[in-house]
Formats: sequence, C-alpha cells, structure tokens
Amino acid sequence: MSTLIKGGTVVTASDTFAADVLIEGEQIVAVGQGLSGNTVIDASGAYVIPGGIDVHTHLDMPFGGTVSSDDFFTGQRAAAFGGTTMHIDFAIQPRGATLRETLDIWHAKARDKAVIDYGFHVAITDLPDSVLEEMPRCIEYGATSMKLFMAYKGALQVDDMTLFRAMQQAAQHRLLIMVHAENGDAIDVLIREAVAAGQLAPRYHALTRPPELEAEATARAVRLAEVAGAPLYVVHLTNAGALEAVRLARARGKAGQIFAETCTQYFFFTRDDLAREGFEGAKWVCSPPFRSPYDQEALWQGVADNSLQVVSTDHCPFWFQGGIEGRPAGKELGRESFAKIPNGCPGIEERMMLLYTYGVRAGRISLNRWVELCCTNPARLFGCYPRKGTLTPGADADVVVWDPEARRILSAATLHQRTDYTLYEGWEITGAPRVVLSRGRVIVEGDTWTGEAGAGRFVHRRPFAP
Ligand code: URP
Ligand code: ZN
Ligand code: ZN
Repeated sequence: MSTLIKGGTVVTASDTFAADVLIEGEQIVAVGQGLSGNTVIDASGAYVIPGGIDVHTHLDMPFGGTVSSDDFFTGQRAAAFGGTTMHIDFAIQPRGATLRETLDIWHAKARDKAVIDYGFHVAITDLPDSVLEEMPRCIEYGATSMKLFMAYKGALQVDDMTLFRAMQQAAQHRLLIMVHAENGDAIDVLIREAVAAGQLAPRYHALTRPPELEAEATARAVRLAEVAGAPLYVVHLTNAGALEAVRLARARGKAGQIFAETCTQYFFFTRDDLAREGFEGAKWVCSPPFRSPYDQEALWQGVADNSLQVVSTDHCPFWFQGGIEGRPAGKELGRESFAKIPNGCPGIEERMMLLYTYGVRAGRISLNRWVELCCTNPARLFGCYPRKGTLTPGADADVVVWDPEARRILSAATLHQRTDYTLYEGWEITGAPRVVLSRGRVIVEGDTWTGEAGAGRFVHRRPFAP
C-alpha cells in the first residue's frame, strides 16, 4: 500500500520546490514529479515538511512535589496536533538508580501510550563511579545524550566535579552533554533572602534567578566542556549574556562542539508576565525565568545567525488549578510562596504554529530556517538524521502537510495539552497542520484524531557526530 502526498510545495532545511512525496509502508520512497500511489492526500496550496522534533519535553515527570500533567498519550497527541512527530523526553535518574534502571522507568511510562516516535535523554543526578562507568552503555541503550542540572539545589543539581567528570566520559564516547545552566547555589541564597523578607509573590521567581546567573553558568559549562573536549548542548537558553558565552565559543572555533537551544516561550514573554494580577503570574513560572524585551530580540537574532541551532519547548505542564477532579497538584502549591510553585509551562502543541506565524510570516526567519530549527537540526544533533528530520527516500514518513493560511485562535479549550491554561490564550496564528503522518500513518486530519496508543516507537539514537 502506498500513499501519495500530491501537489504540495516540499520544504526542507535547504530547499523549497514543487513535488509529490511517495510513501510505501513506513518510509518515504520518492520525492518528485508525476508519481502515483494508492491513496492520495491532496497538498495543493500547502507546504509539505518533515514532522517537527521537540528535543526538550517532560511528560509524566515527578517534579516540585507533584507530576507534570501530560502523560505520554496526551502529551504526544497534543504534539501531533501541532505538527510534531517525534520528541525526546528526559528520563530523570532517581538517586541510587543505574542509568539502565532510569531508562526502564521511562520506557514503562511511554510504551503503551506512545502515539508518535520518541527518544530519551538521561538526566544524571547522581554519578558514583559505577554510573560513570555505565555512561558509555547509553550508546547500546540508544540514549546518547545526557542532561546535568547546574540548578535546583537540594533536588536535581550536581556540582562542578560531577559535571566535569561526566563531560570527560562523554568526550571519550561521543555522548552529548546537555546542561541546565543557572548558578543554583547563588539562586538558593537569593531565594532564601526573598522568602525571609516576605517577598513571596510569583514575580520573585524571576527576580531571584537573574540573567547574570544563567550567563555565568553557561560560560562555566562552555569552558568546562572545552577543557574536557566534550560536545555541549545548552538547553533553554533565555538571555543575551548566556547567548554571548555560546556565540564566543563558537567564534573561537568550537562551532562543531558547542550548541544551544532556546524555547518558544522565551521569544514571547518577559518577567513582567510573572507580575500579572493575583496569582495569575504562576502560570509563567518556569526556569530559567522569562527575561526582557532586549533578551527576546537577542534570541531572534541568535536563531537567525545560527548561534542557536534549535527551538524546543521544555514542555513541562502543570495544572493551574490542580488537586481537584482527580488532577495531580499544580501551580496552587505555591500560593503561599513562589518557591513552591512547580516550575514549568505547557507548549508542545503551539511551537510550530507560533514560530511559523511570528517567525516566518513576520520575516524574522526563512521558511527553510524554520524547518531547520524545528525539525532538521534536532535530528542532526541528536543522532537520528536522516531517518528523521528531513524528506528523503529512506527516511521515516513523518510528514506534515502544512496549511500556510489556516487561521486559529489559540485557547486551552481547543488545544489538546492536558492543562487548564495556555500561555497564548486568545493569540491568533496563521499557519497550522492540515494532515500529520507518523511513519506513513495519518494520525491527524484537521481536527480529527486518528492515531493509536502504542503505535509510537522508541528511536534508538546514534552517538554524537559533529
Ligand atoms: O521550569 C522548567 N524548565 N521545568 C522543567 C525542568 C527543567 O529545568 O527543564
Ligand atoms: Zn532545565
Ligand atoms: Zn526542561
């Protein structure tokens, strides 16, 4: 059985051209003119792009005294509705666990629920010699990237010795080190001071995590990686100072070693959003926090000039009103103190639409750069290109037929993420998926869901290759 996506404009990271895409079984077999197939999907007036890849998500993650509200079914279905057909989630190592045990916990969460393909990074929180020695086996586990947290003191944070030892090991075995770069020790001091002074409203979350402490940690991680010789990927970079550290490293000849992403929301919100009336600002509490309009401009510049290579979401949703109707606790945990608000925001569904509307249509990035940032570079950097992230014979048929004129008003009521809010309530977008295919199967058609729990597969990723 073959499927022909007919009459569209194919857009990859490098090219834009009129062509049909022929799929047989789970793979693309041809891209060209005059092809024929059994089932035809009409792509006239539409772009045909590789499915989005979101390399930074937290589904079903225990965090901040509760658990993120999307599981692998609801989160992945939402991703698919937004044109994302693969994501890489963080398997967080419980203290004392091996990396194998950690991954097994996350495999069990995903296996029967997955509707799109997925991978895992391991988040290392505890690195005794036995785990250090286990790190190279992550190649065999197919999880070839690992995140270390330089923040969240007393919870996920590791010290520099741990980070540096992990980097040395990664350098030897072509594993990609990812860092959450904020100075957790200094932040801890600022949080304690704020709490002692009775400064408890959500806006103090941003004020106790200043951009300088992200810039400092980013520069430190970059320099440690250079000494260790390890490839480094800085996650959720938010501000001009941190970007400068990455840009400088890449300018001094490390463009094949030092990489960074930002996340959709950092283009659109500032620390003022945390000061919204009452407790509303809690919806915008995530780490690192939102910054300034100046930093937003720096991020747009960074994605345009390739100082930033990827835009992901850091999708880590919590209910605003949790703890009712069977919901796990949510943002209300922090009503008495910002320090107890679970950190994280939803966004897996909105990413491609927002970047298309406010990036491509607004003239900030090209159509091809949009595909590169959201689909192709994630696959290249995380060991699954060209099976994922492009449209070429032999690639998995993860394909999105993108209607560039579709207009929607974003609302929690119509989005599919399992939360009671979206940061973008009432925002208008132009450009949205018309049809989404995962390995050749149509899983989204307009507003209709045709995917199936358990159909998504784990993607065994290759080691890092510059
Ligand atoms: O606030 C955030 N970002 N929550 C998720 C955990 C992390 O730091 O990525
Ligand atoms: Zn983080
Ligand atoms: Zn995250």
